[in-house]
Amino acid sequence: MAQPKAFLFDLDGVIVDTAHFHYQAWRRLANEKLGFDISEEFNESLKGVSRTESLDRILAHGNVTLSPAEKETLATLKNDWYVELINKMNPDDILPGINAFLEKTRLAGIKIGLGSVSKNAKPILERIGILSAFDAIIDGTKITKGKPDPEVFLKGAEELGASPDECVVFEDAVAGIEAGRRAGMKTVGIGQPDILTEADVVLANLNNMTIEDLRKALHF
Ligand code: BG6
Ligand code: MG
Repeated sequence: MAQPKAFLFDLDGVIVDTAHFHYQAWRRLANEKLGFDISEEFNESLKGVSRTESLDRILAHGNVTLSPAEKETLATLKNDWYVELINKMNPDDILPGINAFLEKTRLAGIKIGLGSVSKNAKPILERIGILSAFDAIIDGTKITKGKPDPEVFLKGAEELGASPDECVVFEDAVAGIEAGRRAGMKTVGIGQPDILTEADVVLANLNNMTIEDLRKALHF
């Protein structure tokens, strides 16, 4: 049986709580510029989805049609608001258990990769001081297709020299779990089991998680 060789982590909602900031910025845009609200439940369908695709989904949700130029303006405005929020972050914003889990991963000889569709991924990792913990970083600047397409994770595996069945994906998004599965990797959902129904294992967070327990749970 394959041994885990690489762990591929999503960023927003797994390493930092920026999923909440994305929602805040999109909600402000919907409220102030589009004249409708978006619920937390609807926001689940935006997690892991690229900026342009997220805007398209929001516009479809509110039955609003805009020109490409208007969409560009709104996507930029949302990102400006989002960047204002992430610029206030610091190392204390790393989610509970992440630093310790990354350390355990390294000590176990397992490679660490980032698999995020965000174009803000690198500045965020720098801001929270963990950029150097990653052996490979695949972000929104390196991919052409967002999740649920498996591209981001397949590229991560390739850069880390691992085959898909040697990789584990850590994800908070339904689209991200689908991307991991389509890549042929094992998936760990971070969040609620009733939302992340397709994940191999679902955990509330990585606090106190050991590599051994995880291997057992994933049948490695
Ligand atoms: C993902 C988030 O990680 O990145 C999505 O889950 C977000 O909500 C996407 O839309 C793109 O991020 P950015 O920072 O490039 O707008
Ligand atoms: Mg996420």
